[in-house]
Amino acid sequence: MTTFVTAVTSPREIEADLLIVPVFTGADVGPGLKETRLAEAYAAARFTGKKGETLLVPRRPSDRFAADAVLLVGVGAKQEFDITALRRSIAKAVGGARRFATVATTFAQAFTGAKAPAAIQATVEGIGLGAYRFDAYKKATGDVVDLKKATVLVSARTDAKAAKAAAKTGSVLVDAVRFARDLVNTPAADMVPATLAARAQAMAKDVGLTCKVWTEAQLKAGGFGGILGVGQGSVHPPRMIELTYRGGGATKPLALSGKGITFDSGGLSLKEPSGMETMKCDMGGAASILAAMQAIARLKLKVNVVAAIPCSENLPSGSAQRPGDVIRHRGGTTSEVLNTDAEGRLVLADALAYLTEKKPQCIVDTATLTGACVVALGTDIAGAFSNDDVLAQELVAAGTEVGEPIWQMPMWPDYRQLIDSKVADIKNTGKRYGGAITAAWFLAEFVGDTPWVHLDIAGPAFQEGSHDLGPAGATGVPVRALVRWIQERAG
Ligand code: BES
Ligand code: MN
Ligand code: ZN
Repeated sequence: MTTFVTAVTSPREIEADLLIVPVFTGADVGPGLKETRLAEAYAAARFTGKKGETLLVPRRPSDRFAADAVLLVGVGAKQEFDITALRRSIAKAVGGARRFATVATTFAQAFTGAKAPAAIQATVEGIGLGAYRFDAYKKATGDVVDLKKATVLVSARTDAKAAKAAAKTGSVLVDAVRFARDLVNTPAADMVPATLAARAQAMAKDVGLTCKVWTEAQLKAGGFGGILGVGQGSVHPPRMIELTYRGGGATKPLALSGKGITFDSGGLSLKEPSGMETMKCDMGGAASILAAMQAIARLKLKVNVVAAIPCSENLPSGSAQRPGDVIRHRGGTTSEVLNTDAEGRLVLADALAYLTEKKPQCIVDTATLTGACVVALGTDIAGAFSNDDVLAQELVAAGTEVGEPIWQMPMWPDYRQLIDSKVADIKNTGKRYGGAITAAWFLAEFVGDTPWVHLDIAGPAFQEGSHDLGPAGATGVPVRALVRWIQERAG
């Protein structure tokens, strides 16, 4: 746990293990650096302020700064430095400086006036996400220490209340993203559907959300054939997590869903071993919705939100569903399961049908749904699929604002027929190509005419190597985009 505070203390006087200072290329060195030995040290090291350059300067007795050490971070040209670049560069700097329990930074002062609060929030996010690590399964080595406290130095000209509020919002988002990352990074053996549901219940109690966990028997009684069919090969029975947040009076709720496959082996349509290595990440959609719900409750947004999160483990066994089986989903639509590895759409179908019954304003779902989406957009960009272009572009805009890129993909009408089935209403696979789109067409069958956006996060939810905002593993994408979108909806 990191405590975040804002302070108007001068960079020279702030006491911290480490003071982190940005350096631009060119004559304008960056806030807090002018007229100090640090500028000389930077010049002596022949640094130029290029992106990625770092120089650690330990304090000398004669120095007039109070921090034990100062980390100078090259951030490139001032005119190209925006809020997203700020968040990334401070995160990277913090990620590389893990021996310091307290840090302070002048990064937020790179932006003044109306942009100052956003810069403060992004600084908090960058520090909190960059410092994240997942070492619950490692023995302590003493190589790294927990980041206990981070002080964001703000200009005296910035409104103190706005500064505090921005830091608070940032820290709520840091907690939410870390929560999502922890859920995803936890090995699947320790994160079966019931565990995920228990974590949701504990979180809900903590922040004052209503939480109902649907048991296997209740799912059966409710006709949730997709969640049950996918889960029937596992000894760990499925669940559905239903969360309700009320902050919007009598208005219609926003509805959220997230794919909660706690492990995806492919089922009888078994994946190859390398394809399974990271499949504990297949509940990344579920984790992102749980985390977003936590954040909106803590931020007390003026909006109503309902979430239905289907959780199953997709394993092969004597009781597993077979290729050719037909499932009856919530609401009565049937689907032919031709490939048991196309399981995400089967569980989401039930949850989307259920949410549609609640007559929400709109539905957003997040899912590590298809490898095809990763082929199309790479590992960093989420695909948006929608029956409502305006709504889709709201999510795209929110993603751009928070630095979680989302790109709208076409729901090409001719591709709908690719999921026509000979024996059921639809089948769960299309042809070889366009797999992310046929998956979206499958989901579309269950939302009726409710405005809906599906975010395929198979690429950005989980990274094999360290990334801009944290170490290898779960990223927590798209928690911040979701919360931003809901903030904008709440007005
Ligand atoms: N969980 C996978 C998709 C995935 C792939 C997520 C890579 C993260 C990284 C999904 O359930 C799946 O297996 N999809 C299949 C669908 C196919 C069988 C129609 C795929 O993409 O190959
Ligand atoms: Mn699969
Ligand atoms: Zn899957």
